Amino acid sequence: MEKRAEKIRIVLVPLPIQGHITPMMQLGQALNLKGFSITVALGAFNRVSSSQHFPGFQFVTIPETVPISQHDTLGVVEFVVKLNKTSEESFKDCIAQLLLQHGNDIACIIYDELMYFSEAAAKEFKIPSVIFTTGSATNHVCCCVLSKLNVEKFLIDIEDPEVQNKVVENLHPLKYKDLPTSGMGPLERFLEICSEVVNKRTASAVIINTSSCLESLSLSWLKKELKIPVYPLGPLHITASATSSLLEEDRSCIEWLNKQKPRSVIYISVGSIGHMETKEVLEMAWGLYDSNQPFLWVIRPGSIPGSESLPEEVSKMVSERGCIVKWAPQNEVLVHPAVGGFWSHCGWNSTLESIGEGVPMICRPFNGEQKLNAIYIESVWRIGILLQGEVERGGVERAVKRLIVDEEGSGMRERALVLKEKLNASVRSGGSSYNALDELVNYIETEYSNS
Ligand code: UDX
Repeated sequence: MEKRAEKIRIVLVPLPIQGHITPMMQLGQALNLKGFSITVALGAFNRVSSSQHFPGFQFVTIPETVPISQHDTLGVVEFVVKLNKTSEESFKDCIAQLLLQHGNDIACIIYDELMYFSEAAAKEFKIPSVIFTTGSATNHVCCCVLSKLNVEKFLIDIEDPEVQNKVVENLHPLKYKDLPTSGMGPLERFLEICSEVVNKRTASAVIINTSSCLESLSLSWLKKELKIPVYPLGPLHITASATSSLLEEDRSCIEWLNKQKPRSVIYISVGSIGHMETKEVLEMAWGLYDSNQPFLWVIRPGSIPGSESLPEEVSKMVSERGCIVKWAPQNEVLVHPAVGGFWSHCGWNSTLESIGEGVPMICRPFNGEQKLNAIYIESVWRIGILLQGEVERGGVERAVKRLIVDEEGSGMRERALVLKEKLNASVRSGGSSYNALDELVNYIETEYSNS
């Protein structure tokens, strides 16, 4: 790729959890390939295992931040609020240090939409800033809609089935009942975060890790609503494949996959923070066993509260048909010819990665925007099955067979493969995401040369 932006620096500020670090580091890699120098600002406790994967990047520490362990104890909303309160001043110090070190070579600060404290430093040092939305465009639309609601009125209105089923802003099939509020704690606090996220302050553009072939309606809506440039330049995992895994990948599962029949395996992962109840895990284990399909199951340490692993008799039964690992090289798994389907919590990265390989999905979202993604997977792109209600073994068995064995699943796979082609075309030369990245680069260079 051509290098045009030699020696101009971009400072990246990721939210320090896996699902946000990954796309930010991929964005950094994509911009680095365009010739920018990249500096990543992270809290002292929240280091990415960086140097071996990102040799050209500089990493700096925001001293006063909140350790990632508090994400679990506080919950996402309170964690984000605390992180933003704590980090504003120390990030200013961090930028002041960088300016002393490098002179005025910082062209832009790109920060995760949840790291909105960054804007104060950008404003103080008159550095252009750009917001990075690592989730879907539709989720960002929802944030805009939610930020305008009156909490008391909404809580009453949403009890009415007519309101629940009303389509939001002509964005079919998005309905009011789908607004991603569940599992986010008290609505009032969550809406405060939505207001912070949609308040662009002095930021001059928004980057979104999506492609117009997936979310054209939501993107058009956002372009009108936000009144600043919007760059849908994803999926970044196709443009830049650098890995920034915080956990060690167990590659033995690839050897196990090599021994399985084509498109026979169901891959199961609930992302980097999801938890499952023991009862649900046991029903899943039996349902998977009864489906007669081989399965590759990621069970992260700590993801089943109260038990470190499956009970022995279940482990034995599971090991007859399946392979269990603590953390998998997910992109390599999804590209493997043995994989026929993905049982996912529908985090946005997993959703993009699955579509990017044409793999249909069983959707079992936990909360927030994962439910939104699941609705799009099932009803808009029609590449998956949404499992609702309590998980029981019969339902698991049926879902796996529908996806992997039945005609219905073949249709989903065909549509997923069509989307895969569209996604790949969008990041190739002349595609919409490719052009959006180029426009972003031009924009940053122009802002810098005018400063
Ligand atoms: C979080 C939120 O929960 C999610 O809803 C939001 O969209 C992004 O931030 P997370 O739950 O971890 O993310 O899910 P997801 O977005 O799917 O990201 C997980 C990442 O971990 C993916 O990039 C996936 O490839 C990677 N992963 C997961 C592995 O590399 N190995 C694994 O075994 C499991």
